[in-house]
Amino acid sequence: MMKTNDLKKKYIDFFKKQNHEEINSASIIPENDPTVLFTTAGMHPLVPFLLGEEHPSGKRLVSVQKCLRTGDIDDVGDSTHNTFFEMLGNWSLGDYWKKESIGMCYDFLINVLKIDKKKLYVTVFKGNDKVPKDEESAKIWKKLGIPEERIFYMPKEDNWWGPAGETGPCGPDTEMFIDTGKEKCNENCKPGCNCGKYFEIWNSVFMEYNKTKSGKYEPLKQKNVDTGMGVERTVAILNNCESVYEIDSFKKLIKKIRENSKNKNKKAERIVADHLKASTFLLAEKIIPSNLDRGYVLRRLIRRTIRYSKILETKENYEEEIIKSVIDFYKEDYPELDKNADFILKEFKKEKKKFARTLKTGLRKFKDIAKDGDISGKDAFLLFQSFGFPIEMTVELGKEKNLKVDVNGFNKEYEKHKKMSKKGANKKFKGGLADSSKETKKLHTATHLLGEALRRVLGKKVEQRGSNITPERLRFDFNFDRKLKQEEIEEIEKIVNEKINQDLDIVKKEMSVDEAKDIGAKGIFDEKYGEKVFVYFIDDFSKEICGGPHVKKTSELGKFKIVKEKSIAAGTRRIKAILK
Ligand code: ALA
Repeated sequence: MMKTNDLKKKYIDFFKKQNHEEINSASIIPENDPTVLFTTAGMHPLVPFLLGEEHPSGKRLVSVQKCLRTGDIDDVGDSTHNTFFEMLGNWSLGDYWKKESIGMCYDFLINVLKIDKKKLYVTVFKGNDKVPKDEESAKIWKKLGIPEERIFYMPKEDNWWGPAGETGPCGPDTEMFIDTGKEKCNENCKPGCNCGKYFEIWNSVFMEYNKTKSGKYEPLKQKNVDTGMGVERTVAILNNCESVYEIDSFKKLIKKIRENSKNKNKKAERIVADHLKASTFLLAEKIIPSNLDRGYVLRRLIRRTIRYSKILETKENYEEEIIKSVIDFYKEDYPELDKNADFILKEFKKEKKKFARTLKTGLRKFKDIAKDGDISGKDAFLLFQSFGFPIEMTVELGKEKNLKVDVNGFNKEYEKHKKMSKKGANKKFKGGLADSSKETKKLHTATHLLGEALRRVLGKKVEQRGSNITPERLRFDFNFDRKLKQEEIEEIEKIVNEKINQDLDIVKKEMSVDEAKDIGAKGIFDEKYGEKVFVYFIDDFSKEICGGPHVKKTSELGKFKIVKEKSIAAGTRRIKAILK
């Protein structure tokens, strides 16, 4: 049996031998790609580098990346779809191109994984009015011994990848499939058909374009290769498993769910296993259930779990055992799971309790609405807003009664609600900058560094009392009862400049006020924050609740200098500082 960890190791070792540097899995919350809610592929953390910035680890990279995709949530439970999955990937950032990439793919599949060459099928881009047919890739495959009848030219819908969001790097790709030996579903069945005969395991994208906001495809500064191999699918095919739910990373979960269920229902078991795993990973990153964005996705996953658990008639609180199993399986590669285990279990329980309170009355309301026939978008939104029913749940409940649900109408209502919540939340994020010019952003980041430097030099009791930023200078008020000594001022400047020179990353995370408090983020807690706040981390030096915006790296600040220090009231001092 090829295990998940064996495959990961084989992949990393193989590409390391081909001079690739291994990079760690990035967060499931994309930090370098604001166009998407989640990291859906290994390339997200690399977007700036695909666009041309220099990567500190070089031009050849390899990683195992944790990913989350919710676009196919309705397909979860079939043989190949998961919301959470791991992706193996290797990249050429303006280094090798088609010949080398396809050559390495072939070598890894045939010589390392020992896949029967006769079972390998590939697809390449057919071309359109803007980008030519990818004959180069087809030629390379042929040279490697893949006969023409196993090479398929496909249109953009199949053989073009990205951008993942609205804009960003993208390009034609070549995809690799393994024939499972099953019968063709009809005479036109070929790779890309989702009947299950051909199992897609790898994709090599030739990223040479950047899609802009206006919808144009501009050539990128450099030609990149971005590949992605789904870990679960590949382990499944290597072990001749019927589905991804039979491999080692799911086996124990499914077994435990079964042990805890009164009824047997394969699809429900799979959905529960998948959603509990995904929820565990989201909670591990301190995302908490809410009605917006990431929090909403998590809420849907948990609530769907609860509903399918009802179908299975599971034992009370059995989820805890499943969550612990997930943590156990993945904790070595993702230490945040073990570290945040208590938080994960606590938040899961909280959400379950919340839903239990509204589920019964919500179902009653649903019955009521259903009496009048198909469900309107407004009613679906009411079920969401007042009883917390995720839209899929309303659709599923509708199906059971042969009723249609106006999902488009629901989405419209939801977008309206989202816009209004955002407006409210933005107002509540105190301390945010109205003016977000480059200069004010820099000074804003300097303010966070200064606040922490003051605490380090003058003592932990120091707190911000006020702040004001113009493009020329920052002004910072704080509690302290005497004039600062010259050497203290120098020490503070020294610390801030050290942090600037260390080129630290500034990272924004969204969380609840309680969580922000728990992790020791600075903030003015007697103020009314919204349900969610942003916490800005400057590496591990400072963490503060703040509306932003900030620069990305401290090195952007230049040199920090305090120009004035004075008293403005009893026990309150004011510093003015500039960046040169
Ligand atoms: N980014 C490509 C994919 O996800 C490799 O398939």
